[in-house]
Amino acid sequence: MRLQTNAAELAVEGVSVRFGGIAAISDVSFTFGRHEIFGLIGPNGAGKTTLVNCLTGFQRPTAGRVLVGRNPADGWDPAQFRRAGIGRTFQAGRLFKEMTVRENVEVTALGLGLGRRAARSHVAEIIDWVGIGPSADRIAGALPYTEERRVGIARALVLSPAFVLLDEPAAGMSDHECDDLMRLVSAIPSEHRCGVLLIEHNMRVVMGVCDRIHVLDGGRTLAEGTPAAVRANPAVISAYLGEAA
Ligand SMILES: Nc1ncnc2c1ncn2[C@@H]1O[C@H](COP(=O)(O)OP(=O)(O)O)[C@@H](O)[C@H]1O
Ligand SMILES: [Mg+2]
Repeated sequence: MRLQTNAAELAVEGVSVRFGGIAAISDVSFTFGRHEIFGLIGPNGAGKTTLVNCLTGFQRPTAGRVLVGRNPADGWDPAQFRRAGIGRTFQAGRLFKEMTVRENVEVTALGLGLGRRAARSHVAEIIDWVGIGPSADRIAGALPYTEERRVGIARALVLSPAFVLLDEPAAGMSDHECDDLMRLVSAIPSEHRCGVLLIEHNMRVVMGVCDRIHVLDGGRTLAEGTPAAVRANPAVISAYLGEAA
């Protein structure tokens, strides 16, 4: 598959987002690359989804900007982000429930400009890769949620993205199901030459799978670093353990 961008990095630079009087994000900056799994963590309401929305054109920053490689993405809509090679999943599935798994992925692939046969074989390849080949002809609305999430990942990957943003793909899964999914997520950078931004609450999982982690609290950056550095960071420890700073 052709790659849609040569961008080596995806970044937010001094991004703030206000909803009326509420500061959802305050001056957040980070950069992650094609080769890595970058964790974005923080309690509910910390602003994780709002940042993913900024990185995919679903939300305009009130201040600051998104950079795709060296290109400022000022004013881009979601379709422009998709064309620039940025894929995502949604916290609430957003599958077409009455369509089959294959059709759900095909619908997303339509915009790729491939011929019919090439598109079909590319879709089949991605469906197999995420491990839902045997369910390709099932109606999406009837899938167990573990498979539903994999359809979401297939839809993101079918665009041959340079970066994929996964918003709590393992939420509600058992440890075993979560580990299974994380084996797949871990293989994305090497097998798809695609950087991953991963939002995930289970610290054992985050620490195990991420190369670097950015910690948000109340819309602000609390820390960023390797799993070992983040785990040892006093601000992170006190925020997560609820101690006085
Ligand atoms: N469209 C919106 N309108 C108003 N407030 C919003 C909107 N989206 C998110 N928020 C608020 O912004 C903050 C961050 O939310 P969100 O990004 O969803 O956090 P997280 O994904 O980390 O749980 C929360 O206080 C949330 O209520
Ligand atoms: Mg969220």
